[in-house]
Amino acid sequence: MKLKLLTMGVIGVVATTFADSFEDDVINVKKAPKFDISTVEFKKVNVYPQATVRLNDKNAKSADIDEIQVGSVYTGKEIYLVIKWKDDTFSVQPKLTTNKYGDGVSVQFPVSYGKGKTLPYIGMGNEGNPVVVYLRKMVENRDYVKSFVSEAFGSLTEQRDNTFSLEMNYDKDKKEYIAIFKRVVKPTDLKPGIIPVAFAVWDGDSLNRGGKKNISSWKFLKIEGVNPDKSYISYLSWGYGNIGDPNRGKELMVQNGCNGCHNYADQNNALPDLAPNLSKIGGYSNPVYLRESIINPSAVVIRNLNINRHYDKSQQPDKNGAYPNNEMYTWYTKDEKGKRVSKMPPYNYLSEQDVNDIVAYLKTLK
Ligand code: HEC
Repeated sequence: MKLKLLTMGVIGVVATTFADSFEDDVINVKKAPKFDISTVEFKKVNVYPQATVRLNDKNAKSADIDEIQVGSVYTGKEIYLVIKWKDDTFSVQPKLTTNKYGDGVSVQFPVSYGKGKTLPYIGMGNEGNPVVVYLRKMVENRDYVKSFVSEAFGSLTEQRDNTFSLEMNYDKDKKEYIAIFKRVVKPTDLKPGIIPVAFAVWDGDSLNRGGKKNISSWKFLKIEGVNPDKSYISYLSWGYGNIGDPNRGKELMVQNGCNGCHNYADQNNALPDLAPNLSKIGGYSNPVYLRESIINPSAVVIRNLNINRHYDKSQQPDKNGAYPNNEMYTWYTKDEKGKRVSKMPPYNYLSEQDVNDIVAYLKTLK
């Protein structure tokens, strides 16, 4: 009942403001005839180290960047995103050395969004639900800017795209980066009224590169003057605000054996790498994704951590003396049609209240 009222609340007020904490994840896109950086209004966006990626580099650490500021403008032709963040160390990847890395920034959008679409997995999309990523890195003597489409599982396709630009400048006095992303958009691109977007930053000084980065959850660009589709908003805003009892959710996770596979908060008895670490899951996941992860884990199957870290020494080594990977550490199996199936059992028998309480707890893990 509580939940129903909440959803109705969201639908009722959608034309002007959004309910509860969903508003915190909304970035207003202001219409202006011209882009003028001095008039941009910024909103704080938190970023968290992504847990489902691990480098074979013990010196790489999580960046000390926990928030960025984002503002947006639509000129009638182009959409601008201005991203600012503090970084004490200015790092540029040199042309020839390979053990030094540059700072970087990326902006990610779902390839398709709007009524009836689900959010892609935050970590570069999932099978059947791709994202487009725009990336800029500080590399010596080179404009390192890329755009690619990704569906996870190695399907990263670089694309030629001359409809965008992404600049990145360091202010040495303020120890701050300002990045400006600009893209030509068609009115149909903006028709859903609300566009999911996510951000990532890399700190070269912490040896960040590849998947070692700090990421945001999906945020929502709200285009001034365009009313978003109500059913899409009620999907995106599911689980914001007070949906359950986090303390009960915490207990339910132990009772249901989640801690047998996952480590999080004070639960650290699962074999590391058996399943994603959930310590920051609430920081970079949206509630609707958390809910789906519990009741239908195979809807999004996450790529493994580097499986080649775990060898199975009970097997015969190959002719070079290398042991096969230990299959215990893969996060999925394949069904007879070759489709990936999560090794996590679906908890679809839990009551709605139980699921809500668990999501309420997972949201606190950041
Ligand atoms: C048998 C081991 C196992 C158990 C038990 C288990 N999980 Fe998982 N879980 C996994 C694996 C493996 C994945 C990654 C594969 C995938 O995408 O489903 C995962 C993924 C997740 C994710 C997504 C993580 C991310 O980084 O996006 C969440 C959230 C999650 N599980 C929560 C739970 C909760 C809550 C429970 C208990 C109700 C639970 N899990 C029980 C193995 C398990």
